[in-house]
Amino acid sequence: MIKINIIIENLKEGIRGEYTAKRKYALFSEKALKENHLMIAKLFKTVSLAEEIHVKNHLRALEKITNKKFNINHIVGSDESELSIKVSSTRDNLKDAIAGETYEFKKMYKSFIKNAKKKDFYLAEFSFDLARKAEKVHGELFMKYLELLDSGQTIDEIEIFLCKICGNVELNQAPLKCPNCDHDQQFFEEIFL
Ligand SMILES: [Fe+2]
Ligand SMILES: [Fe+2]
Repeated sequence: MIKINIIIENLKEGIRGEYTAKRKYALFSEKALKENHLMIAKLFKTVSLAEEIHVKNHLRALEKITNKKFNINHIVGSDESELSIKVSSTRDNLKDAIAGETYEFKKMYKSFIKNAKKKDFYLAEFSFDLARKAEKVHGELFMKYLELLDSGQTIDEIEIFLCKICGNVELNQAPLKCPNCDHDQQFFEEIFL
């Protein structure tokens, strides 16, 4: 039987994972900038901000479900997540990011959603589902840019937009409605390096 504790643990694990991803991508962005991969640096920066949205959404769900306030530092143990981040070349950083997004999309959120569904923890299910959909997009974008990098072509500088509700990322222009969360274009923000 699924107990509330499992949902709470899943939310906390989600928060830790998203927080680490946020910190990691910010460092990967700096590294890409140093290697003069401007577009990849901008993508990492945007996705870092997207993961921060997931942290906030999960935290909100956790606080509503438990009716308690949480100190994010107590959940994430920030020193440890800092130490576990390894920055390599931009190419390897992209591969690392693809592996992380794929794990979250295919495994982690899938099982979290299943748990939340069983007990009708709608708030948790909703937050996990929004994050899962965004992680799929993030993974695909990282794959696309890894291919471009490997092809040796110059990577054109284009606009990147972030949905501030769900962390979805869109290239070139913001859609009229976010395909992930259905919010209007006005909730998209263009991200600059
Ligand atoms: Fe992601
Ligand atoms: Fe969205």
